[in-house]
Order: sequence, then C-alpha cells, then structure tokens
Amino acid sequence: MKTHDKKDFPVSNVRRFLEPGPIVLVSSAYRGKPNIMTMGWHMIMEFEPSLVGCYIWTENHSFRKSRECVINVPTVALAPKVVRIGNTSGRDIDKFETFGLTAVEGEKVKAPLVGECYASFECRLADARMIKRYSLFVLEVVKAHVATSPAFPRTIHYRGDGVFMVSGANTGKFRRHFKPHNM
Ligand SMILES: Cc1cc2nc3c(=O)[nH]c(=O)nc-3n(C[C@H](O)[C@H](O)[C@H](O)COP(=O)(O)O)c2cc1C
Repeated sequence: MKTHDKKDFPVSNVRRFLEPGPIVLVSSAYRGKPNIMTMGWHMIMEFEPSLVGCYIWTENHSFRKSRECVINVPTVALAPKVVRIGNTSGRDIDKFETFGLTAVEGEKVKAPLVGECYASFECRLADARMIKRYSLFVLEVVKAHVATSPAFPRTIHYRGDGVFMVSGANTGKFRRHFKPHNM
C-alpha cells in the first residue's frame, strides 16, 4: 500500500478528523523501539492548546514512559492491518516490520508517523494526572500532517462485535440550525 503525501495542517483544527470518532493507530517509540497500537477511545478536549484525551490500557505494550506519540488516522484500505495491530503486541513483534508499514520520522517528536495513514498528529503528554486513575493520557497535538485528497477520507468507526462502520455520505442539511461558534 502506498504512503500518503501529507501537508502541514493547523493543530487547532485536528477535530475535523478526530471528532467523528475514527479508529486510529497510536505510534510510539521508547528506548529506540517503535510500536503501534489500535485505539478507539479518544476525544478532543480543547482547540488551543490542541488537546486530545486517549485511553491506553495499562497492559498494552504502548503504555510506556516515552511521553510522546503520534495519532494516525487510517482509511478503510488499512482495516485488515488495523485489526491485526490491535490483536498483537509490540512485546512480541515489530509491528512496522510485520505489517509492512513505513515509519516516517516525526518533526517534533521521536515517535514515528505511519506513512500509510491519511493523517498523522504528533503529540506530547500534556497532563499525566489521570493516567494512574483512569489510564487517560491528555496529549497536546504539536504538529499535524494531513493528506490533501480526498477531502473526506473513508475512515473506520468501531461498533463492537467485529463490526466497523465506514464513513460515507455527508449532509449540510442541518447547518442552518447551528450557532456559528458551534460549527
Ligand atoms: C478496534 C480496536 C480498538 C481498540 N481500542 C483501544 C483503545 O481505545 N485503548 C486501548 O488501550 N486498547 C485498544 N485496543 C486494543 C489494543 O490495540 C491492543 O491491546 C493491542 O494489542 C495493544 O498493542 P501493544 O501491546 O503493542 O501496545 C483496541 C483494539 C481494537 C481491535
């Protein structure tokens, strides 16, 4: 699968890709060892600074002390690999190598970007206070890279029980009901 040619994107606007709740791949590196995990439990928390909350289970190999990671947005073309990445552990295998994915060097963090993903958001740990209690990492997006086409990627959204919803049609039919600051 080919890598996406990504352009710089404003970090304050990453909600455009994360607010619809796609399954993402979190890539990280600790003591020189890269890893990737699949993640569905994330949420936008603020525009500026650009904050994202992520739940990472303590038993995951990705639960490491690197304080940096990359949130990558895959499209449906990567779905089989996304599932396999979520069903294996970086304790046992090098997932970049096993799944034939391209580790692209980050600009602001040591964690690698996943080249085959549509968008990649470089993150630094912004608040560690909820990790112990909730496994909740509050991250700041410090650099965003997004492919220029298509405008609306076909992302995957997990419904449980092995079923994904693939993003599809858009409608602007309800736009007139919005207050401008909520758009
Ligand atoms: C669709 C899907 C969504 C997942 N969402 C999460 C999540 O939000 N948080 C989490 O900790 N694990 C989640 N997982 C499980 C991890 O991806 C899985 O435990 C993985 O093996 C961890 O890899 P690691 O040990 O290399 O870090 C999800 C798995 C799948 C298949």
